Amino acid sequence: MERHIYLDYNATTPLRDEVREVMADALFVYGNASSMHRSGREARAQVEEARRAVAALIGARRAEEVIFTSGGSESNNTVFETMRDIVTRKCNGGGKDDNRTEIITTVVEHPCVLNSAKYLKERGYKVTFLPVDEAGKVKMNEYRAALNDRTLLVSVMMANNEIGTIEDIAEIVRLAKSVGALTHTDATQAVGKIPVDVEALGVDYLTMSCHKIYGPKGIGALYKREGAPLSPLIHGGHQEDGFRAGTYNNLGIIGFGEAARLAKRDLAEYGRTMRELRDRLRDGLLATIPNIKVNGHPTDVLPNTLNVSFPGAEGEAILLSLDLEGIEASTGSACASGSLDPSHVLMAIGVWPELAHGSIRFSLGQGVTQEDIGYVLEKTPPIIARLRAMSTVRAPLCRDATCTICKE
Ligand SMILES: Cc1ncc(COP(=O)(O)O)c(C=O)c1O
Repeated sequence: MERHIYLDYNATTPLRDEVREVMADALFVYGNASSMHRSGREARAQVEEARRAVAALIGARRAEEVIFTSGGSESNNTVFETMRDIVTRKCNGGGKDDNRTEIITTVVEHPCVLNSAKYLKERGYKVTFLPVDEAGKVKMNEYRAALNDRTLLVSVMMANNEIGTIEDIAEIVRLAKSVGALTHTDATQAVGKIPVDVEALGVDYLTMSCHKIYGPKGIGALYKREGAPLSPLIHGGHQEDGFRAGTYNNLGIIGFGEAARLAKRDLAEYGRTMRELRDRLRDGLLATIPNIKVNGHPTDVLPNTLNVSFPGAEGEAILLSLDLEGIEASTGSACASGSLDPSHVLMAIGVWPELAHGSIRFSLGQGVTQEDIGYVLEKTPPIIARLRAMSTVRAPLCRDATCTICKE
């Protein structure tokens, strides 16, 4: 039988069987969840049950703090739109009278945060893009230096989609609060993979996306702490307390609820299994392929993510060769694939452009077996050897003369 090993779960995940079943039943619930009649009430009850499940997954105290959106991109955009609105109202003489207009984020965010921040910067807002260290962690000294009493928002992702590095969000929030700033974390890659608790983190806003946790695409949520300001990105009816207009996407929401319930139930087991498989893959590649480098933080990293640089081999060629063997991985984020620019995340952690072009993200998920990992470990070394033999590019790992990995 032809092999098919999907190792691109950070890009998206397949629907879980249980989610598919719940959604199949929900296809027959056609009522508009805003309608007063029985069909509407029935649909609404399912929406609210799902909201409670999503709230429980992230430890929200009140289910109403969860606002359904079309996904991570919309949730993130809504937070930045809110900041624009707050500042615009202040400029027009409305709103609170403090002088907060500055935004702090990082250079390694997903493009939907980066481009929202750049959009504001181009319109005259002061936006600081914090650098990260070689493991992908925010440089805290630079963060402390950037914070001041004009800081309106601090937005730092909880876990990076390309290298899996987990940021110290609780500490970042604590510092932001000490100057009275609002806080947001894009937890799209963290939710369902590691424990996420909005109360322990203290954040005002948190972004989630359902298709990363074995639910349907086109549905996500924004956690908004009670009392935190929010401006709608989509204006219209009164759905979601007026924060997000549009007829309820019952089917997506119900799928999200079930995916969230299962993610919470299985979190510990997921973490254990993924770590075991990922570590075996990492150690196996390091043992069989000379001169490679694992990118990201050695311990504060998502349990399912492995980003590896293969100097002297080209990323797209590696991907295609793996694909021919039935192995699906990625050269970075799905949103950036097709772009010839080296990954902004790898650039930010100091990987050279030549090397960044030869980097592969393996992101594991439910359904990956020990046998699959064995197969990947068998197929990858000859692919890298063949591509290196053909290549004219010899990218060293780094320019550090003392580096032991690069002494090859
Ligand atoms: C960190 C991060 N944020 C946001 C998004 C966007 O989420 P969505 O696809 O639901 O818009 C992604 C998707 O890859 C992501 O990895």
